[in-house]
Amino acid sequence: MLQKKDLSEGEEQHDSAVVELPGIPIAPCRQKSEPGVYFILDKASLVAAYVGKKYQILNPEEHASFLRKKNKNPYDFRPDIIHEALLQIMSSRLCMAGRLRAIFIRTDEGILIRVEPNTQIPKTLGSFCNMMVQLLQKFSIKATGNHGKIMRLIENPITKHLPINSCKIGLSSSSPKAVQLRDYVSAANHNENLVFVVGAMAHGKIDADYIDDLISVSSFSLSAGTCLRRICIALERNWNIE
Ligand SMILES: C[S@@+](CC[C@H](N)C(=O)[O-])C[C@H]1O[C@@H](n2cnc3c(N)ncnc32)[C@H](O)[C@@H]1O
Repeated sequence: MLQKKDLSEGEEQHDSAVVELPGIPIAPCRQKSEPGVYFILDKASLVAAYVGKKYQILNPEEHASFLRKKNKNPYDFRPDIIHEALLQIMSSRLCMAGRLRAIFIRTDEGILIRVEPNTQIPKTLGSFCNMMVQLLQKFSIKATGNHGKIMRLIENPITKHLPINSCKIGLSSSSPKAVQLRDYVSAANHNENLVFVVGAMAHGKIDADYIDDLISVSSFSLSAGTCLRRICIALERNWNIE
């Protein structure tokens, strides 16, 4: 073990001299000093039910007559929106560069899900729905070949899971505050994490009484997937991710 007394006078004055203390490893602790981004996908439709003998996530393609018999509008059941939203985020350079910290899904029914950045989202809607059914039944999903959980149900409220130093930004086409995303993110505090709240529903507004700002990013009503892609591109430019 290298003791401070073993160093020559010159070395002792050197700023980078490393002194090992019992029980404290020399290897530097890797801290996430760079700010990152969190996404909250609000009011997502992930409703599971037994159709025949099989427990399934309801969607208008397969379950329209089942839903109509129950006096429900099949087009209120849209797992494709959350599927597309997750694919957009996970395929971004922002995620590849390690700046995505987590995605939270809040379903229409108030279930809260944490999705880790290393999650492989199935490309087809059918496989994605199978994954979500498994999650709702088992409360978590592990990555294959490794013991870490990639998705898990977590307790409400969402605010309990967000970092203290974060700015929470809600998106709504009806917000009177119209911004250019690129300018907006470059003006953000560079030491703060950013949390974007985007609706994963077909109609309606996000429910976010905890947000710091509510912005509109286009004069059109965009899909959640388009909004998320635009946020990722704006952050990639701002953080010089090529
Ligand atoms: C299909 S939209 C929901 C419909 C609703 N007209 C709206 O924009 O709030 C899905 C989500 O995308 C986001 N969004 C869509 N267009 C937007 C816009 N022009 N500005 C900001 N956010 C928008 C909102 O978060 C919205 O909840």
